[in-house]
Amino acid sequence: MSTRRANEPEDRPARTLPLSHRRSFVAHHTRAQTLPGLPGLRLHLADDAVPVWQATEAATGVAGAPLPFWAFAWSGGLALARYLVEHPEEVRGRRVLDFATGSGLVAIVAAQAGAASVAAVDIDPFAEAAVGINAKANGVRIEYIGRDLLGEPPPDVDVLLAADTWYEGPFAERAYPWLLAAAAQGSRVLVGDPGRIYRPADGLHEIASFEVETTTKLEDRAVVTGRVYVVRATDEPGAAAAAARASAPSVE
Ligand SMILES: C[S@@+](CC[C@H](N)C(=O)[O-])C[C@H]1O[C@@H](n2cnc3c(N)ncnc32)[C@H](O)[C@@H]1O
Repeated sequence: MSTRRANEPEDRPARTLPLSHRRSFVAHHTRAQTLPGLPGLRLHLADDAVPVWQATEAATGVAGAPLPFWAFAWSGGLALARYLVEHPEEVRGRRVLDFATGSGLVAIVAAQAGAASVAAVDIDPFAEAAVGINAKANGVRIEYIGRDLLGEPPPDVDVLLAADTWYEGPFAERAYPWLLAAAAQGSRVLVGDPGRIYRPADGLHEIASFEVETTTKLEDRAVVTGRVYVVRATDEPGAAAAAARASAPSVE
């Protein structure tokens, strides 16, 4: 899973595009689709990454755009969403945050399962448009947060969901201590992952697995085993220190 162009800039030029333009862009480059194992869900998704990627560069006027993650339902998200459909009690009546939401897949399923409130977080400005379109298509209300929460202590929520976030070393290294910190402060942290290379070796307790249908345009197989884990704060010195670093306010 290659995710970046070699010269991808740090900033997000798409942020300067008005939300209405981003919404039109998402609507133009996707089509409403249903997903196996997730009845009652319709997401606006793309069939192929490359044309959307090229169009993103054209729309933003900058070479080196991030992969349009928001245009796909990733295997980790499909597994976590399937788990929530089978176990709505995990989120029913709870305050939920879906970290790294992409299309909004997991956030929307949590809302459909009866969460009291759902916030979806992603740093890609196109994800804001995708989440808005997909929430509307499914008749649910999702709050969107577009800033990078990894630079802050985790928010006070009952359930923190994070699907398919171990695909890139630097991102995984920042996200994992933050998830541990969320677990240490009392959130139930549920993760979906299809065996990505940067999945942490400890602190994850598997609670379910699903054979999820994906596409060989994204993965090397059409059916992938997606696993669902609970993240538990561990007593190991390394994990505890990492969690403490994540929850400490940054000092310039
Ligand atoms: C592989 S996609 C997973 C999307 C969704 N959870 C799913 O399973 O379909 C990873 C997502 O992480 C987002 N992301 C990367 N860094 C992030 C950060 N620091 N904070 C929030 N989201 C981030 C990307 O923009 C992308 O949408």
